[in-house]
This record gives sequence, C-alpha cells and structure tokens, in this order.
Amino acid sequence: MCGIVGYVGENEAADFLVEGLRRLEYRGYDSAGVAVLNGGPVELRRAAGKLSALENLLRKEPVSGTLGLGHTRWATHGRPSEENAHPHACCHNNIFVAHNGIIENYGELKDALVKSGHRFKSQTDTEVLAHAIEDHYQGDLLEAVKKALATVRGSYALVVFSARERKRFIAARRDSPLILGIGDNEMYAASDVSAVLPRTRRVIYLEDGDIADVGKEGARIFDSAGGRVARTPKRIEWDARTAEKGGHKHFMLKEIHEQAATVRNTIRGKFDAEAGLLNLEESLPLEVARTLPKVCLVGCGTSYHAGLVGRYWMEELAGVSCDVEIASEMRYRRFDPAPGSLVVAVSQSGETADTLAALRNAKRKGLPTLAVCNVVGATATRDAAYTLHTRCGPEIGVASTKAFMGQLTALFLLALHVGRSRGTLSEDRLKALLRELNRLPDLIQTALDGNAAVEEVARSVYRENNFLYLGRHLNYPVALEGALKLKEISYIHAEGYPAGELKHGPIALVDNHLPVVAIAPRSSVSEKMISNIEEVKARGGRVIAVADEYDGEVGTKADLVLRVPRTDEFLTPFLTIIPLQLLAYHVAALRGCDVDQPRNLAKSVTVE
Ligand code: AGP
Repeated sequence: MCGIVGYVGENEAADFLVEGLRRLEYRGYDSAGVAVLNGGPVELRRAAGKLSALENLLRKEPVSGTLGLGHTRWATHGRPSEENAHPHACCHNNIFVAHNGIIENYGELKDALVKSGHRFKSQTDTEVLAHAIEDHYQGDLLEAVKKALATVRGSYALVVFSARERKRFIAARRDSPLILGIGDNEMYAASDVSAVLPRTRRVIYLEDGDIADVGKEGARIFDSAGGRVARTPKRIEWDARTAEKGGHKHFMLKEIHEQAATVRNTIRGKFDAEAGLLNLEESLPLEVARTLPKVCLVGCGTSYHAGLVGRYWMEELAGVSCDVEIASEMRYRRFDPAPGSLVVAVSQSGETADTLAALRNAKRKGLPTLAVCNVVGATATRDAAYTLHTRCGPEIGVASTKAFMGQLTALFLLALHVGRSRGTLSEDRLKALLRELNRLPDLIQTALDGNAAVEEVARSVYRENNFLYLGRHLNYPVALEGALKLKEISYIHAEGYPAGELKHGPIALVDNHLPVVAIAPRSSVSEKMISNIEEVKARGGRVIAVADEYDGEVGTKADLVLRVPRTDEFLTPFLTIIPLQLLAYHVAALRGCDVDQPRNLAKSVTVE
C-alpha cells in the first residue's frame, strides 16, 4: 500500500513528485505529502485526504528545489491525518523519509529511541525510520540508512534524504516494490513504473534487500549482503496514454470496455486452434505439467475468485485435482500437498503481501510455483519459478475488472496445457475449446454492447441496500465476483451464494427490496437455476437474470434479463461477468460514489 516517489536532478522536484503521486494515487489516498530541499531548510507540505488537498496547499505555499520525495498514503498505523502523513522527519529536521510497508518491530524501536531522547510527532510506524537513521547519521546518509535498516523487521520501500546532503537520496526495498527511473541528468524513484513513464522509459527494478545511493547521474546499488551490484535497466514499452481514461468517465468503465482486447492480448501467440497446438511451455514446462499430482491456486479478492473458476477447468478439462486457497488464510493452515504439486499465485499486481507469502511458503517446500500476473517485473514474477502474464495493461480502477478477465484467460490456457500434457483432454475437445477461445473477444464485445440495457436495469435498483447474487457450478464464483464488485464501489451490502444453498438460509432474506441476481446462462445446471428463480419469485422476490441470447425460458420467469451471447458452458464466466461489472459500475455511478477510488480500499494490498 502507499505510493512513494523521489527525485534528484536539475529541475523542480515538486513538478515530478506531484505528477508521480497522481499516477500512484490508486495505491492509497488517505493523505499525501512532499518534502523538497532548496538552499534553506527543507520545505515540507502535507495534507490529509486525497492528493488534490496537497495540490491546493502547494498552490498557496509552493515549494522549490531539485531534491525531493513524496508519498500518497493508505493508512496502517495512525489515523489518516496531517501529522500522520508522510514524509516524516527526525527530531532536527535533517532526515526525511517516505515509506511504503510496515515496520513490525516499530514499538520496540520507538521505546529505545524515546529513551535515548528522540521526540515523536506521529502515531506511524514509519517515523521510527527517520529517528533511527538520525541516530546513526554521521555525515554519510548511505551508511546511516544501512545501519538503521539492519535493526528493522518488516517490509519497506523507502526514499530518504538528508538536509545536509543536497545531491543524493537513498532508496531501499524489502518486500515492497520500488523502481528507479533513469533520466537525463536526473533520477527518479517510484513504487511502480506508471509514475515515471511520462518522464523516462528506462527503469531499474530494485531487488529485495537492495539499497541504492541515487544522484542525478545515476545510482550505486548494494544488495542485502552489502556488496555493490549492477542491476540492468529495462526499457518499458507501455504507452503512458494507456493509463488515461480514453474518453470514459471513469477508469473502471474504460477498463471494462478493454476486456475484448485483454483476451486477445493474453492469448496472442499462445495457440493454433486448427492445428490443436498450444504454446505454454515457457510458462510451465511439459515435464512439470505432465507429472503434477495436484494444482493449488492461491490469491485474494478478485484473483481468488478467478482461481475458483479455474478449479472447474483444472478438474474437468485437465483432469487434475485442484484446491483454491485464500492467501491470507492459507498461511494458518497446514499445507502439505504431494511433491510436485503446482502452486499458482494469481495476482494482478504481483505485490499482494499474502499471496507473496503463500508463494514463498510453497517455494520453501520445494514445490514448483507459477505466477499468473499482470505487472511485468512484479515481485511475484521474480519469486515464482514460472510466470504466465495476463496482458491487460495497467489497471487503474481499484475495482478489478479487466484483470479478472485476463486471469480467467490465463487459467483457462493453463488448464488446457495441463490437460493436453497429461493426455486427459482429447484432441477434438482441445481444438473446439481453442476455436471458441478465438471467438471470445467478439463475444465479449457483443456482451459489452449491452451496456445501455444494463444501465437501464441499474436505474431500477440503485436505491436498494441489499443484493443477493446466485450462481451454480462455473458461475458460482461469478456470483461472488459480481457481489464483490457491487459492494466495493457502491457500498451496498451484496452477497454471492451458491444457488443450491438458497434454501439453507438466505431465502429468508427474500422480499421485494432484495434484488436477486441469478446467473443462468444455458448450461448443464440451467434447469436448476430456473428452479431457484421460481423459488425467489414465489416469495415475492425480484429477479434480475443473466441469460444467454437464445434462452426464452429464463426471460419468462425473471423480472429483468441481461443477455450475453451463447458459448460453450466452460467459457460462460468470461461473458456472464460483464453485465455484473457494468451493473456494479452504473449503480455506483448513479449513487454518486467515487467509482475509481472507493473508500477504505487500495489497489495493491502490500501489507498482511
Ligand atoms: C478487487 O476488485 C479488489 N481490488 C481486490 O479484491 C484485489 O483483487 C485483491 O486485492 C488482489 O489483488 P492482486 O490481484 O493485485 O493480488
């Protein structure tokens, strides 16, 4: 969580800092701040709330200088307020720090620092870093940071400068992301590349344990053992414009509409449907795929829901036993799958702390690991033995949409690859599924063309306070994901349920103020879904059904119907999720909610 930026060069630091923070605001928006060094004392500006509050402050009280750092916060320790906003300073306003992560032993460090005379101004864990560095400072910031970090437990990405050293900042990371951007006589640091893309495409991904001494002409990098290391700069080809809204009112809507391209990009070069050829060996070597006794999919939130869909594919198409785990719970369970079992970490960001912990746990046990990840160079992709990228481009809306689509695509390909490698998927079935996968972008586009109809439905229900989503088999996880989308951006209470469980409790909730969203495309379980719709109707409930274009029966039973194109039953989640994403979007927009930055949430959850 939190976004951090740093700058050293010949231009006004604040210009980049604010621009970079704007691009990182999805990581947290409880407060923001910058510290800039010029000829005089360090100029510190901080404001509670979104970045716009800091921008207002900077208009009234501008800062000037060519060395600086900035921060946009998602609060962990201490309420969102100005005094808890970063950057934090030491007692004598010499050391300034912006930090992303959690200092787990901050209590004991703080006690010791207070005893030795340090005075704290905030309730944050981060402030101990400023004081600890001050404690070790003897004219060389790099040495002081190294010594201070040696006393720290927890996770951090941080940028630090000293008011006494005008030409450098120090950047360091452990378990939180941090990159350096290389400019022309200027250097940048940021939590991710999107912050620096308008300025430079040359970046260095710092590794865990790295400490970088950054001046305008470059960086000296030291690894966790203290040795000088060379980290090869990478050229980022992402177009910064892809991170803009492209004419849509919100990033989320833009990203929903990019889903045909998401599938197209993710499958590109991966198979030849007519020849029945799959090309996934780089992501998972044949010998691993052929012999794995079990697959374990692990993730959080939307990524976990993608894993739940993936389980049906693994079991029914690949014929392999599959568990799906919530990453934050997995760490408390005894986890002992048979040797050779494949652990797949599903993560848009590749930085989610719990998912990374699960991945590392699997690695420690000697299991093969694979990251299904959207962000090139993310920690998960570096930790896992293998990677399968979802090619969605940057997802800015906090509510995940196109990333889910990319994850479904990747997991589907993976299941086909495992099935083919093990000989459990016939050649004919494989070809038929691949042909359907090729059609999918067009089918998705058709589903998206139903946007106006979904908006109409949203108008009829947006004032309700509770929703129930029902689905079965492959569309049960879609019910969970539809409910998550609605609750996170509209703050409406929504529950996803397996439709077969309706009679075991939730049916008691049914009345005409509880819209029941029934996901009922034509499939092997559609008759059972129709029975569930009848049960809700018989109790005076209101049903919004998601049905396929040719299905007349659902239309006669439900109050409102959202249509999607017909496809193979195994591909229905790719289409049924679309009206649910749009429904959540329109309901939230009609309620005047902050769609792209819903309250209390952050895009990337880098703390446990
Ligand atoms: C979904 O809309 C949420 N933003 C959230 O559940 C998200 O999917 C989760 O935090 C996992 O993130 P990751 O995919 O980056 O690991």
